[in-house]
Amino acid sequence: MNIELPFSLYAERRSRVAAAIGPNGVALIPTALERPRNRDSDFLFRHDSYFYYLTGFTEPNAWLVITGDGASTLFCAPKDLEREIWDGYRLGPGAAIEALGVQSAYAIGELDTRLPRLLENRDAVWYPFAIHAGLEARVGEWLNQVRARVRYGALCPEQQRDLCTVLDEMRLIKDAHEQDIMRRAARISAHAHVRAMKLSARMLREGKDVREYHLDAELLHEFRMHGSQYPAYTSIVAAGANACVLHYRAADTPLCAGELVLIDAGCELDGYASDITRTFPADGRFTGPQRTLYDLVLASQEAAVAATRAGARFNDPHDATVKVLAQGMLDVGLLDRNKVGGVDDVIEQRAYFQFYMHRTGHWLGMDVHDCGSYVEPSQVGEVSERKDPLSGEVIRNRPSRVLKPGMVLTIEPGIYVRPAEGVPEAFHNIGIRIEDDAIVTAGGCELITRDVPVKAAEIEALMQA
Ligand code: GLY
Ligand code: MN
Ligand code: MN
Repeated sequence: MNIELPFSLYAERRSRVAAAIGPNGVALIPTALERPRNRDSDFLFRHDSYFYYLTGFTEPNAWLVITGDGASTLFCAPKDLEREIWDGYRLGPGAAIEALGVQSAYAIGELDTRLPRLLENRDAVWYPFAIHAGLEARVGEWLNQVRARVRYGALCPEQQRDLCTVLDEMRLIKDAHEQDIMRRAARISAHAHVRAMKLSARMLREGKDVREYHLDAELLHEFRMHGSQYPAYTSIVAAGANACVLHYRAADTPLCAGELVLIDAGCELDGYASDITRTFPADGRFTGPQRTLYDLVLASQEAAVAATRAGARFNDPHDATVKVLAQGMLDVGLLDRNKVGGVDDVIEQRAYFQFYMHRTGHWLGMDVHDCGSYVEPSQVGEVSERKDPLSGEVIRNRPSRVLKPGMVLTIEPGIYVRPAEGVPEAFHNIGIRIEDDAIVTAGGCELITRDVPVKAAEIEALMQA
């Protein structure tokens, strides 16, 4: 169990939910399901982020119900000595009231009998839409049971509302407690990247066979040695040309002197993700063409960092990145001016997309691709249309989100060069991404992942030390 905080933090969040759903609303929030992996082995359980955000409770088999009057009810696994001998400690409903600060707690087995009563005489039932398979049907069954009692004067909720709209806005701004955990997660991940870089150079120096999985193991070791529960997502360790596969995993490709390694890995700590990418020469020395592209990606990241501050739009760092990358692709000869024109044409026609095909960032928080609308809520009605030059598809744009202090996002430009006609051979199969995590502040942003160096010369110095 992971309840380190005074539960007032979670109680305060539940009060905000109660206020948002109104005095006659009721909100249902299940935690995640346990999922079978093969035969009688399960995947490692990971709580649902919304549920954890409101309870701090990490056990499976639990539901939270919040009613508009501010009361919270927890359903959880009951104490059971035999099951606890096999599966471990359970808090149990008896202790939950004091430990979690909820007003009532019952065994999970009572959910189906108690839920209809909790829904009765409410206007609206709120729950996260399209997150938990089967939840909609289950709510339908409970509502049907309420309907069976209308002849006795019971009222049945007339509305079903998406609770994500409330919780996503709350989770988008990270409070001081959340920022503190995220800084710690980022630091652990940064140190793991440093270790992986050093291991690569050391094993090559010693003439050893070093493979992607060795670095994957090194990352995991550092995460766990510092209390991280698990990686925040499946680590990418990509040697050489594998870096051009965006969702590559760590497999068994050998690392070779003269080639780059791309690592995208971050730990999860106490429910919060970190997300770092570094690209480095396997033996600690960039070649000329590698260094040219590396410095270009880094310059584009610096432009994005400079564009990240309260009051700017979420898209501003991406636009700043694209400007630098597009100009750089022309300068180094990845794109041919005679074919694609100047930098404005490259951007307008999206010619850079051949080498840079993803966005420059995403929200980061409990989930690595965290929740939160990327559209500015006050401007959802301001729709403009444009035709995408590559696909011909008509895109409906809405103004991008205005950044506020406490929002956390990644800044992760890259360049991926697959061999193709007209592409200088010296750059073939080079894949580079540089990713840092940023907390938006009033005047700019705080990069929380810089315990691992990012400048080419500093990476070289570290790996050769
Ligand atoms: N590691 C996932 C991402 O960078 O978006
Ligand atoms: Mn990312
Ligand atoms: Mn990443």
